[in-house]
Amino acid sequence: MTWHISIEVDRASSDSLTKQIQEAIRCRIAEGILHAGTRLPSTRQLASDLGVSRSVAVEAYEQLTAEGYLTCLQGSGTRVADRANGEISTNADPLREAEPAVPVHWDLRTGRANVTNFPRVEWLACYRTVLAAAGRDELDYPKVAGLPLLRDSLAGYLGRVRGVRSSVETVMVTAGFAQGLSLLCEALPRFGIRKLAIEDPGHNNQRRFIEECGMRTVPVPLDGEGVDVDRLAATGARAVLVTPAHQFPTGITMSPARRQALVRWAQDVDGLIIEDDYDGEFWFDQSHRPSSLQELAPDQVIYAGTASKALVPGLRLGWLAVPPHLSALLSKVRSRHDLGSDGITQRAFSELITSGMLDRHLRRVRSRYRSRREAFTQAVELHLPCAGIVGSSAGLHAYLQLPADIEESPLVEAALRRSVLVHGGKRYQFTPGERPPALVVGYSTLPLAGIAESMFAIRDAVDEQRAARGRFATGGPVAHRRAGQRKAVHSRS
Ligand SMILES: Cc1ncc(COP(=O)(O)O)c(C=O)c1O
Repeated sequence: MTWHISIEVDRASSDSLTKQIQEAIRCRIAEGILHAGTRLPSTRQLASDLGVSRSVAVEAYEQLTAEGYLTCLQGSGTRVADRANGEISTNADPLREAEPAVPVHWDLRTGRANVTNFPRVEWLACYRTVLAAAGRDELDYPKVAGLPLLRDSLAGYLGRVRGVRSSVETVMVTAGFAQGLSLLCEALPRFGIRKLAIEDPGHNNQRRFIEECGMRTVPVPLDGEGVDVDRLAATGARAVLVTPAHQFPTGITMSPARRQALVRWAQDVDGLIIEDDYDGEFWFDQSHRPSSLQELAPDQVIYAGTASKALVPGLRLGWLAVPPHLSALLSKVRSRHDLGSDGITQRAFSELITSGMLDRHLRRVRSRYRSRREAFTQAVELHLPCAGIVGSSAGLHAYLQLPADIEESPLVEAALRRSVLVHGGKRYQFTPGERPPALVVGYSTLPLAGIAESMFAIRDAVDEQRAARGRFATGGPVAHRRAGQRKAVHSRS
């Protein structure tokens, strides 16, 4: 296949030909003319199109690759890099992962929904019931905080399954946690809070989102029990965003003692804790699932939940249970953004909860995700016994800590060469160098065989890296294969 690019060089210019090519490509990327993932001509083709020597084209591409504008992967040529468009990208969507630049066999990134689990039949039944009975409440402008009927069902449901203390007055229905977080970022400055402490490691895209919403973020390190409360106190922040049930990304569950200390901190500084309970429905450990942090201090904790993992993200349904003094302010802030969420969907969701269909659905999908989690644990034990899974057996992802001799970024690249897309732990660290190498593995969308295959491919990549270190002595090449092309995956460890 021959690819072309529309650029020109000026032989009369005082700038070198290499510099002109670089500038032309850089400009087109910055202006959004060349999009992320776009394939560029080979250096041979570019040189021939522009009538320059091949070394000029090679030098231009090498420099642009080093600057992060281009990526060059074996077998897929040179492409515009994912993040090359930066701030001015037309798809700038801070909470979403970009699509991979190259098709991959196994995508282990987190935050990807398994949409095949969506309970279509039950949802349709709820919609039918609601449409048959829909009246003014559902068809007219809804209340910005949400339909009282749904807020009431949610308050009952959250009390029952997560120990949340709330009522129809303190629950707000949002378009996912994303909207809840943006409303909070707008409301908190009214209380003199302009700085939000976040867990380190934490959700890198969420950090960007918070900063784009106008709040400053202060990363606070974690230990094995959760966020370090002494370090938090030292930041001077009066609000913190935490994931106590299943920390993102490390999977740690906040200990009872740390919960008490965190609540005491919030009371001392007259502050607020935002509890992001993004995957609290999925707990696979034999031990008792801890209930919400909010239960301990409903005046200090804003509980946030979402339908994105329990159902699907496309519904854009989430909820906040807020301290009573925040309810009116949040509705006021919300009314400047939109006039509330779709009434029919809200009523259908209420029906799903009160009919018991949500509980039945969750029991079903919990058992599917438990099987995936078990398959993942077994695959790690079999293929990567040198690695250790950190945190609780819960949620839809796991944090895989690697031996200290492994170099994380080269391993991620080597996995990609085997058609396995996985993110390294560093991606989520705000203070580099504090933690051992790791991989953050999302297993919710993979078939069981895919979990085993991808762990095998990562093992192959680990072996390659270790052998390459030894190769300085021996000089022999190390072969690798695409994960999808391999046979007898289970026969080697
Ligand atoms: C840490 C974390 N919080 C919250 C969410 C859910 O966000 P939303 O409800 O906006 O889909 C996710 C989704 O992947 C997440 O990873």
